[in-house]
Amino acid sequence: MSNFFITGGAGFIGSAVIRFLIKETDHQVLNLDKLTYAGNLESLASVAQNQRYQFLQADVCDQGLVSQVFEDFQPDVVMHLAAESHVDRSIDGPTDFIQTNIVGTSVMLECARKYWKQLPSDNRFRFHHISTDEVYGSLDDTGLFTEETAYDPSSPYSASKASSDHLVRAWHRTYGLPVLITNCSNNYGPYQFPEKLIPLMILNAFEGKPLPVYGSGQQIRDWLHVEDHARAIYKVVTEGEVGQTYNIGGHNEKTNLEVVHALCDILLELAPWNGSPRAFGPRDDVGSYKELITYVADRPGHDLRYAIDASKIQKDLGWVPQETFETGLRKTVEWYLNNFEWCQHVQDGSYQRQRLGVIEGKQGAVE
Ligand code: NAD
Ligand code: TYD
Repeated sequence: MSNFFITGGAGFIGSAVIRFLIKETDHQVLNLDKLTYAGNLESLASVAQNQRYQFLQADVCDQGLVSQVFEDFQPDVVMHLAAESHVDRSIDGPTDFIQTNIVGTSVMLECARKYWKQLPSDNRFRFHHISTDEVYGSLDDTGLFTEETAYDPSSPYSASKASSDHLVRAWHRTYGLPVLITNCSNNYGPYQFPEKLIPLMILNAFEGKPLPVYGSGQQIRDWLHVEDHARAIYKVVTEGEVGQTYNIGGHNEKTNLEVVHALCDILLELAPWNGSPRAFGPRDDVGSYKELITYVADRPGHDLRYAIDASKIQKDLGWVPQETFETGLRKTVEWYLNNFEWCQHVQDGSYQRQRLGVIEGKQGAVE
């Protein structure tokens, strides 16, 4: 039994990790989360009362407080997920991304280093930084991101994550801090804030609102179910080799348009136009969810294609995803259809699924 210090555990991936740790292991879990717009304790309702779980609302940039958490909780493992995570928001306002993703990671590293230095020499302490494949930039039609691919980030979000990855590696090379880094492809699944492609499209379609496809819709992402990601990072932090990086991906390359079409097909089956009662109800002047697809201005600096070579984590640690895209997407649509209350609560406040990240006169990828 170990002490797991999780940051960002009220977010989409962090909450999946904590639900996994409480349900599938006997570890103690401390969740430190600032509860920004993206952090929601309702996502942890199923584990909140468990004796092995505790929550602290705090900012990872607060050095005094984070340091105290290390002293009091005595973690064996840190899994650092707290971040600003949405590319479109990073285009509108990069400052929070610099602060949380770069400064926040440096604070976590310094507090971890001071704590780790005074542990007995046979300690098994590990600092795991959870990152994204977006640090590698954009691929053409061919090729895959490997752990050796050079960093080439396009957005303020991916640049801030790239910076934080560099800091983590530097703390390993310079101070010997026992770190692990994972770079994962796009996640989908339950409890994802509806600013991201898949939940936004499900909710808009169900409400009969336009489905805003950026540019041509031919950009490719490699989708992984969030519970597969949670299982992968648990494997890495418990069995991975210190100092190593592992890429994580689902072997599910899809164009954005393919994803939206697949969602429309599943929705038509699960919530037909003239079918069962629904919370909001689609417009009755359209015959198929696909008719709601609307092409809108492209995202500035839009990366064309992401695709992960996940052979290292498979070969070294025996991890493979359990969900196919088809099974995972269906479960996800079902989850959103059954959890309108969660969706309404997390959107209470300033966000109404409006378009974010548009710059007048600037569209698409850089040639
Ligand atoms: P999310 O936006 O859903 O959640 C982020 C969480 O961090 C929220 O609970 C938020 O309250 C918290 N947070 C933000 N700023 C904080 C601060 N200053 N101090 C403490 N807590 C703070 O993000 P997510 O999708 O769950 O992503 C988690 C991590 O995984 C991020 O580091 C992200 O870069 C990485 N990642 C995400 C994806 C993806 O597809 N979502 C893919 C690969 C990697
Ligand atoms: P997103 O979920 O924001 O993840 P990321 O930008 O980190 O990959 O977007 C996934 C893809 O979907 C990306 O190519 C942008 C596109 N997209 C749309 O076409 N329409 C939308 O409304 C959103 C949110 C994204």
